[in-house]
Amino acid sequence: MSREKRKKKEGFWSELLDLLAPSVKTMKRIFILMIFVEAVKLVGPYLLKVIIDVLTDFSNDRVFLLLVLAGGYFLSLQAVSILDYLQYKKVFRMLINIEYYLPVRAEKKLMDLPLSYHEKEGTGNKIIKIEKGATRIIDLMANASWEVVPTLLQLVATLAVLLAVNPWFGAVFAFFSPIFIWITYDVNRKLYPIRKRRWKRNEESYGKMAQSIININTVKSFAQEIREAREFKSIKKKIRDAEFREWFYLLKIGLARNLVIDLGRLSILFLGAYFVWSGIETIGTLVFVFTLSEKSYLSLYRLSRFYDKLEEGKEAVGRFIKLTKAKSNIINPQNGIKPERLQGKIEFKNVSFSYKKEDEKALRNINLKIIPESKVALVGPSGGGKTTLARMIYRHYDPKSGEILLDGRNLKDYDIYSMRKKMAIVPQEVEIFDSSIRDNISYANPKAGFKEIQAVARVANADEFIQKLSNGYDTLVGERGTRLSGGQRQRIGIARALLANPDIIIFDEATSNLDSQSERLIQEAMERISKGRTIIIIAHRLSTVKKADKIVVIEEGKIIEEGNHCELSESRGGVYARLLKLQKMGDIE
Ligand SMILES: Nc1ncnc2c1ncn2[C@@H]1O[C@H](COP(=O)(O)OP(=O)(O)OP(=O)(O)O)[C@@H](O)[C@H]1O
Ligand SMILES: [Mg+2]
Repeated sequence: MSREKRKKKEGFWSELLDLLAPSVKTMKRIFILMIFVEAVKLVGPYLLKVIIDVLTDFSNDRVFLLLVLAGGYFLSLQAVSILDYLQYKKVFRMLINIEYYLPVRAEKKLMDLPLSYHEKEGTGNKIIKIEKGATRIIDLMANASWEVVPTLLQLVATLAVLLAVNPWFGAVFAFFSPIFIWITYDVNRKLYPIRKRRWKRNEESYGKMAQSIININTVKSFAQEIREAREFKSIKKKIRDAEFREWFYLLKIGLARNLVIDLGRLSILFLGAYFVWSGIETIGTLVFVFTLSEKSYLSLYRLSRFYDKLEEGKEAVGRFIKLTKAKSNIINPQNGIKPERLQGKIEFKNVSFSYKKEDEKALRNINLKIIPESKVALVGPSGGGKTTLARMIYRHYDPKSGEILLDGRNLKDYDIYSMRKKMAIVPQEVEIFDSSIRDNISYANPKAGFKEIQAVARVANADEFIQKLSNGYDTLVGERGTRLSGGQRQRIGIARALLANPDIIIFDEATSNLDSQSERLIQEAMERISKGRTIIIIAHRLSTVKKADKIVVIEEGKIIEEGNHCELSESRGGVYARLLKLQKMGDIE
């Protein structure tokens, strides 16, 4: 094995132990208890040997001895069963705890990871990664507790006893076991790349399934149900075939492993028979040795099966570990500033940003000053970088170069959570939780009373339609708000942002789904709520931005014009003036 590979292997175990850190203490205790249990387990077969020896050479005065031995045998069995009970209790406690804290940790991690991570990984992939990974780890620990460690201990103990009884027995055992172990190890090494591919495909398949479900509306509207099902099937089919090959190969190897064990058995039997025949050993010893070695061969077999399973599930576990180790590229500073209130002064200094490749810049050299309590509008063609710019203020992404100042301090100096709590955004696509309207509005402020909720709903022009719903504010809206219209969702988004009572509000196309009448109402509301706040409005409809203190035109990631409505509309050859003309011609407003 190359050094790199070995390192990778060790990495797996130490990372797994890291993950299971809360249980390590319990593991150690269980291990010690197991050593004890396995030692006590040897007492029974040994007493049996003594009993057989007494019987083969029986005389009446030995009845009492026999009774004592039988009593001892019974006691040793009871001791084992009580120790087992104690051990099982500990093992169950550990397993159930792992089942509890692994998913909890994964969920926390997912919540902590930045938007960029979530935008890269599909929903289905993430969920299946956690589901399968956690299940495999629990399987692993269960097997380790019930099978592996006891079996290993048994093996060591047996080998010691066999060697002590007669080195020849020990030698036979010591000869066949390594062959067996090597076969097991080798086959799994060969299967590793196949398995890796299989797990990756498995995640892919669930990613695919999640995609078809999330976009079910489109799937059905374009009558693509059969294609979606077929694509899922084809990924699954590849996985199935790979699995067939894998397990059938293992079964075939199983034949070889069996042969090795049977040869071992046969050797012990022959050797034992020879020793008894030549009077070196008693029949009792032969029975004892045969019982022990039989048990050990079985253990060896169980162990190899466990190893097969371990190797099979390792990739899933590895993927889970990778998720829990994923690094956030948005780092929250220690002792970051926790502002009581934001003045709302924002300054972009030479900010450039790209999502992926350096040459595909989403923002180029942005210099922008937003003064406190002003209203700034971002306009420009689709894909220009308006949403990206707004996300930078939120620190969903950090600039690749340049810096962003908030109230004169670098954005990176703020405690992310405190800072974000002072801001609110109404995104282009308002995300709605599958719960009541009331819960959805009060999401950022769950303690808000009904009066407050209704007040913001009124401002957002939502109260009227909510009242008309069957259960009013308690109406359930379905996953992603499927039971609401686009405009209704937006108004809930606006109410939600208002209830957060932020110092800075960003409206990203917040009124794009509304009719002119509702939009006007909301614009009035915006006027009202804008007092004492910094407002950033992103809009395509220029009517929405007319009253802004400053209008910024963004195209291809660059600011190409800046000024108020009067200035910009009068500038000859200006982009804003052109857009305005187009919209007037199209009679949009
Ligand atoms: N999560 C992302 N990952 C990679 N690229 C992205 C991502 N989000 C946006 N982009 C790219 O960045 C550029 C700017 O997108 P942005 O969403 O900021 O545009 P926009 O001005 O808000 O457009 P619109 O008016 O259509 O909302 C686009 O070229 C887009 O393809
Ligand atoms: Mg946008």
